[in-house]
Amino acid sequence: ASLLALSMGAANANTLDDISESGELRACFDAGYMPFEMKAKNGNYIGFDVDLGKLMAKQMGVKYVPVNTAWDGIIPALLTNKCHVIMAGMTITAQRNMRVNFADPYITVGQAILLNPKHEGKILSYKDLNSADYTVASKLGTSGEESVKKLLRNAKYNAFETETDAALEVVNGKADAMVYDMPFISIYAAQTKGKTAAILEPFTYEPLGWAVKQGDPDMLNFLNNFLKQTKGDGSYQRIYDKWFNS
Ligand code: ARG
Repeated sequence: ASLLALSMGAANANTLDDISESGELRACFDAGYMPFEMKAKNGNYIGFDVDLGKLMAKQMGVKYVPVNTAWDGIIPALLTNKCHVIMAGMTITAQRNMRVNFADPYITVGQAILLNPKHEGKILSYKDLNSADYTVASKLGTSGEESVKKLLRNAKYNAFETETDAALEVVNGKADAMVYDMPFISIYAAQTKGKTAAILEPFTYEPLGWAVKQGDPDMLNFLNNFLKQTKGDGSYQRIYDKWFNS
């Protein structure tokens, strides 16, 4: 940071300087959100965001450090410098954008539906779920939860701390459906064939973006140019194919 910034109480701390000085890129996420961030059996974190974060750290010449964080604490973790960037499949929403800056979207998803198989062929869209007869699960503090509250007002809603807990409710029949980001639902439904069904056509529009602190155009500029370069040179596509087309 410049002397001027320091004399101003480092109000506009430069994240890139901190990354260089510490020799590490600390990236926050909440593991369990397939295929973006998962904890492998050996304890390592893997996934789409993880591979992109590793590539970014490599280009910066620093070490990639994963910071697994509960979802409800992820923006506070960024704001208190636990991480330099949130790389966690975070939907760019106006509400969140009041607190953080987002780089350009790196992928666009939307909400999809995991169904208990007894409803297969009967519940055909989210609209059919909007009834007091149904219980819907999602994850606390996510855009999935927002969509249930907004678009499925009549259904009973149960919030869970983790993706897996919400999805298990559908498998064991305590919930009729789970509403969540399409890539997660698609993978989970494939892993639980016979025990679940899915409606994969997204019914919301959700660009996902990496989040940084407000007041740091340098970091934002780095992220956007990283995206431009990796999308142009094929490295983004290679990592995308590894996690979405296999
Ligand atoms: N896209 C959704 C949201 O922003 C869910 C993201 C969950 N991410 C995670 N790493 N668990 O609310």
